[in-house]
Amino acid sequence: MDKIKLHDKTFRICIPNEKIEENIKNVADQINKDYKDVERPLFLSVLSGSFMFTASLLKHINFDCEISFIKLSSYCGTSSTGEVRQILGYTKPLKGRNVIVVEDIVDSGDTMVEMNKILTAGQVKDARICTLLLKPDAYKKDLKIDYVALHIPNDFIVGFGLDYDELGRQYKDIYVLDD
Ligand code: IMP
Ligand code: MG
Repeated sequence: MDKIKLHDKTFRICIPNEKIEENIKNVADQINKDYKDVERPLFLSVLSGSFMFTASLLKHINFDCEISFIKLSSYCGTSSTGEVRQILGYTKPLKGRNVIVVEDIVDSGDTMVEMNKILTAGQVKDARICTLLLKPDAYKKDLKIDYVALHIPNDFIVGFGLDYDELGRQYKDIYVLDD
């Protein structure tokens, strides 16, 4: 499908699934190298947007690891509200863990700054951030984004887990707002 309509807006395809999967595999290869001697890391997937990325990424991970989920939200419609809410928390102890945060997209970075606060408060041993997408022109925070599968322009996109007001998450390709 080259175009999709969600609510009142039309989106056109911009990153095909093959390209997404290829880049995810490259990131997974890097993580496999970096974590080969680390004891049982915890992948903490940020719901809802990263469910598809988490599934694709973890299929390539070849060391013993745990996977859990946390839900944070800062978006309303097509713009960030600037306020991040923790909707569904991680309940097991984080103390001393090596955590890899799995995020769908880093835009303003508010969500990852909040995530970092949660991990610091939980006294993790080490935390790294792995994101499917990064908008470098929107991201102005100092926090290091360790693994990035794809860098994209500062446009609103949907698909591969990302939504426009809860629609569009199921598409295997990534679409950009058509103007
Ligand atoms: P940040 O806190 O501004 O970095 O925004 C991060 C969150 O906003 C992501 O986890 C997404 O859920 C959502 N988001 C940011 N940009 C987009 C986009 O282009 N499309 C859909 N959701 C987005
Ligand atoms: Mg997200």
